Amino acid sequence: MFRILSILILEVQLYLIRAFFTVEVPRLQYITEYGSNVTMECRFPVDSQLNLKDLSVSWEQKGLKEQKSKEVYTLQKGEEDLKSQHRDYRGRATLLRDKLNLGCSVLQITSVKLMDAGSYRCLIDYRGADYKYITLEVKASYTRINVQIMSEPAEEELVLTCQSEGYPLAEVFWQNEKNLKVNGSVNTTYTLTTDGLYNVTSMLTFKPNASENYSCTFWSKELNEKTSYIFTLARQTAVVGKKSLNLFVIPTCVIVVVLISALTIFLKRKSFTKLHAKKDKKRKCPQLQKEDNRHLNPETQDLIMTNVTDSRDCTDVCP
Ligand SMILES: *[C@@H]1O[C@H](CO)[C@@H](O)[C@H](O)[C@H]1NC(C)=O
Ligand SMILES: *[C@@H]1O[C@H](CO)[C@@H](O)[C@H](O)[C@H]1NC(C)=O
Ligand SMILES: *[C@@H]1O[C@H](CO)[C@@H](O)[C@H](O)[C@H]1NC(C)=O
Ligand SMILES: *[C@@H]1O[C@H](CO)[C@@H](O)[C@H](O)[C@H]1NC(C)=O
Ligand SMILES: *[C@@H]1O[C@H](CO)[C@@H](O)[C@H](O)[C@H]1NC(C)=O
Ligand SMILES: *[C@@H]1O[C@H](CO)[C@@H](O)[C@H](O)[C@H]1NC(C)=O
Repeated sequence: MFRILSILILEVQLYLIRAFFTVEVPRLQYITEYGSNVTMECRFPVDSQLNLKDLSVSWEQKGLKEQKSKEVYTLQKGEEDLKSQHRDYRGRATLLRDKLNLGCSVLQITSVKLMDAGSYRCLIDYRGADYKYITLEVKASYTRINVQIMSEPAEEELVLTCQSEGYPLAEVFWQNEKNLKVNGSVNTTYTLTTDGLYNVTSMLTFKPNASENYSCTFWSKELNEKTSYIFTLARQTAVVGKKSLNLFVIPTCVIVVVLISALTIFLKRKSFTKLHAKKDKKRKCPQLQKEDNRHLNPETQDLIMTNVTDSRDCTDVCP
């Protein structure tokens, strides 16, 4: 009887501690681009002055397919404790110390890898203890398309090759400018890089038509993204030699990126900035000004995408 009572009292005490001390997360999920830096944050109550000696912070990660969690970063009574930090995070995970005074536990992971994806537990012990989970998704867009053009004069054939790396696996389509399938043979293969990215190579072998442009498109359903490379075929005006294949190919550097999901985030971000700008005119991330450029090249677009995440963190909760 007494035992039950004491357990009950303990439960109530625990409940009260939890009620008074709660860790909160401004965002439950972060989506970041492979290779970029990400910051994730949770917040805890701090009275006027933080007493660092009383503060312990622990960040742990568990991958989607893994059983055990990995230690990402530990602050023990105000001191950094990296003795049992998992090797996957060595040199890549830090806690932004200057944010702690504001009651923000901001974890920064640099050059994000695919295996960083998963669930992160942010545990804070500061006159009470509590934790919350945050999900990190990592994607790798097929942004950079490498191309190769080979001609086989004997066969009057052209071999166009497009190669790119990303995650998850993308399909490759070949089209002419009328969005029709090209009459030729396509061979698409992939390998895995050491980082777990798909290295996709697609080759189109066909008899070209001088008055048509051709493109390869990497399409990933999961990413909801399409990246294309357009080959411009032009008739060779000067007759050089007697080759019957009087075509040559101008590899255009036009890469059309249809980032549907990115655009959505982008537009949301836009309205967010406006909203926020009213509240706080001066404090803004410097990279965010060029917003109205729709025909950015994919790299810039990507940069802006990562900035979306970053800017939120720096203007939103923990300034
Ligand atoms: C990521 O952070 C590191 C270290 O702070 C920095 O050197 C690097 O430029 C950052 N990379 C990006 C893409 O912001
Ligand atoms: C497709 O190519 C084959 C052989 O290269 C040719 O016989 C056929 O007529 C072509 N079809 C079209 C619709 O151009
Ligand atoms: C496709 O290409 C790979 C590597 O280049 C080759 O091993 C394979 O035989 C090709 N497949 C076809 C159907 O041509
Ligand atoms: C991807 O594959 C191509 C050829 O299939 C190869 O040349 C290239 O080095 C590979 N890239 C990586 C990062 O593995
Ligand atoms: C080449 O393209 C032109 C214009 O699109 C078309 O009229 C013609 O039929 C095509 N020729 C072949 C052999 O496909
Ligand atoms: C092929 O692309 C070039 C450059 O974008 C363009 O000037 C040309 O008109 C295109 N050709 C056709 C047949 O659409």
